[in-house]
Amino acid sequence: MARIELQGLSKSYGATSVVHGIDLVIEDGEFVVFVGPSGCGKSTTLRMIAGLEDITDGTLLIGGEVVNQREPKQRNIAMVFQNYAIYPHMTVGQNIGFGLYTSKISKAEKQKRIAETGKILGLENLLDRRPAALSGGQRQRVAIGRAMVRDPVAFLFDEPLSNLDAQLRSQMRMEIKSLHHRLGTTIVYVTHDQIEAMTMADKIVVMREGNILQVGTPTDLYENPVDVFTARFIGSPSMNMLDGTLSGGALAIEGASVSGLSLPAHEGPVRLGIRPHDLVVGEGAGAGLVTTSTVEAVEPLGAETLVHVRLGDALVVATAPGRIVPAIGSTVSISAAPGAFYLFDAASEKALGRA
Ligand SMILES: Nc1ncnc2c1ncn2[C@@H]1O[C@H](COP(=O)(O)OP(=O)(O)OP(=O)(O)O)[C@@H](O)[C@H]1O
Ligand SMILES: [Mg+2]
Repeated sequence: MARIELQGLSKSYGATSVVHGIDLVIEDGEFVVFVGPSGCGKSTTLRMIAGLEDITDGTLLIGGEVVNQREPKQRNIAMVFQNYAIYPHMTVGQNIGFGLYTSKISKAEKQKRIAETGKILGLENLLDRRPAALSGGQRQRVAIGRAMVRDPVAFLFDEPLSNLDAQLRSQMRMEIKSLHHRLGTTIVYVTHDQIEAMTMADKIVVMREGNILQVGTPTDLYENPVDVFTARFIGSPSMNMLDGTLSGGALAIEGASVSGLSLPAHEGPVRLGIRPHDLVVGEGAGAGLVTTSTVEAVEPLGAETLVHVRLGDALVVATAPGRIVPAIGSTVSISAAPGAFYLFDAASEKALGRA
């Protein structure tokens, strides 16, 4: 087990800087999820922690010791990739045991560790099978088993579930989470998937263009996003954004009337965020945002219905109860109560506050 600390960690390829001096503390036993758009430096950061990539500048500490110059195997960190390479000609047991191939442990001890790992992952009856005779989820568990068998101080996962179908993904999500609960080992996990981030993380790290934008619990990020990017990334469906203007303590939005909000002190163009779950199809209490709008598209999902309407120039989505399925082209009332609004400066996209 280990605390991992990144101090001013940077990576450049030649003259191109791709990670620009990031600071982060990953506590012992914590489940930390990195999110951010493609190319923002998530994998590079993970690879620097693992020792698969040289650190250009800054300091990496594992368990209080500087490890910048240590070889990957001396760091005792296990990495599970998206394209987990399990060997087709080896059995499940041999694949798991492959994680031990360099360690000088007895054959009996090796068999014991393979059996224990197989048991933890529910593979104990499959140890003699070959990967071709396994399901996608079982194969993923073999890859995790190979990482686990060495008893590493931390696991690094780089989009481990992105090749699996939606149902298996949600099952494996819970399996990895429960594994973390049982083992208590530090996990650093990279994903594009905001649902994975929200459901698995103790702490989410939002990266963009080689920098850390925000660090917080899933609830912190959901309630208090620092900018439009985090606001739209966290939560599903994404937060709606409307253009508006704050002037003399009043908020003007095209296509809707707004009243009764305690607004942040700011003058000028703003972006107004409203989560789909806070946008009500039907009359509200009167205060907040009120308008009527034409239904452009409807997605009935069973438990709830996503209703897409136009507000001024923007297409927004509201989440209605499943029994409400308005006709396309019909006119509906749309409202959002005070407390549901996130305000951002239009130019910098930085948060101004809630209203
Ligand atoms: N060997 C390399 N040489 C030059 N540039 C590289 C190299 N490896 C990665 N990069 C660049 O570094 C940046 C960060 O890449 P990285 O793989 O860390 O992104 P990522 O956040 O993991 O993206 P994705 O979500 O697509 O996996 C990218 O712009 C990428 O093109
Ligand atoms: Mg990557």
